[in-house]
Amino acid sequence: MTRVSATPAATVRLEGVGKAFTGSDGRPLSAVSEVDLLVAAGEIVALVGPSGCGKSTLLRLMAGLEFPSEGSVWVGAHRVTGPDPECGMVFQEHRLLPWLNVEGNIAFGLRSFGAQDRERIVAEQIAQTGLAGFERAYPHQLSGGMAQRAALARALAPKPPVLLLDEPFGALDAFTKVRMQEELLRARQLSQPTTLLVTHDIEEAVFLADRVLVLAERPGRIQRAFVVDLARPRDRTSTAFSRFRRTVLREFGIVNETPAEAAELIPIHRGIALANRSKEVS
Ligand SMILES: Nc1ncnc2c1ncn2[C@@H]1O[C@H](COP(=O)(O)OP(=O)(O)O)[C@@H](O)[C@H]1O
Ligand SMILES: [Mg+2]
Repeated sequence: MTRVSATPAATVRLEGVGKAFTGSDGRPLSAVSEVDLLVAAGEIVALVGPSGCGKSTLLRLMAGLEFPSEGSVWVGAHRVTGPDPECGMVFQEHRLLPWLNVEGNIAFGLRSFGAQDRERIVAEQIAQTGLAGFERAYPHQLSGGMAQRAALARALAPKPPVLLLDEPFGALDAFTKVRMQEELLRARQLSQPTTLLVTHDIEEAVFLADRVLVLAERPGRIQRAFVVDLARPRDRTSTAFSRFRRTVLREFGIVNETPAEAAELIPIHRGIALANRSKEVS
């Protein structure tokens, strides 16, 4: 697909990144440690792992909302040292401004654009995210799915080189979630930003991502990387998809392994690569 955006997607690079907080007992708490990661321009990478393993911290470090205790974070050629306008973010809650309607919320991040461009981009985002007919609606008048569409449209409107999604569909019902996953892929077609997605949902990760990173906790670190080499559009009912999903679930030890699997007689999926402390190049 040809890129319409003036701002090309950017690589995201973490080099030896660690982040320590002060825990509730006053002692240092290592949230993430020794994370090396290179995300290619335009790539979709999913981060999965137990609660508290540092997924949100990693996204916040990329967005410049936290500063690493060790190592460095880069977006394109720029070292991230503060809140980064190159990154669009969507969270589990929509975080729309309640006093602005859908159009107003999408236009909010476009204040530096001329009025004509602003209008054109808002219309484009409304069409692309399936919000037609809801332009004048206020956040409290929207369903959960519609509000997340508006949050996605707002994040994508300035065509950010990087899109950071922290469990964006985590609060939606199963049907809406599946629809939104497809719509996310459609919505990002306009600019194809480099995308990092935190999710608890392994199916969502396998459906959307080019690579799935499994994180381990205490301290948070990348334990394993799976390259999702399934053709797109993906069919979540296919045998290949189920097999891939099972492979990722095995990493969490929540699959009743067959004796053959347990003995590693079933060949490990060819997409698997050990990632911990390795330079991740896609
Ligand atoms: N601002 C903060 N102050 C103190 N501890 C924090 C802060 N942010 C996160 N943590 C701690 O860092 C760890 C990782 O948190 P987080 O990145 O939110 O995990 P996840 O998103 O994977 O659930 C947790 O133990 C959490 O309590
Ligand atoms: Mg989190």
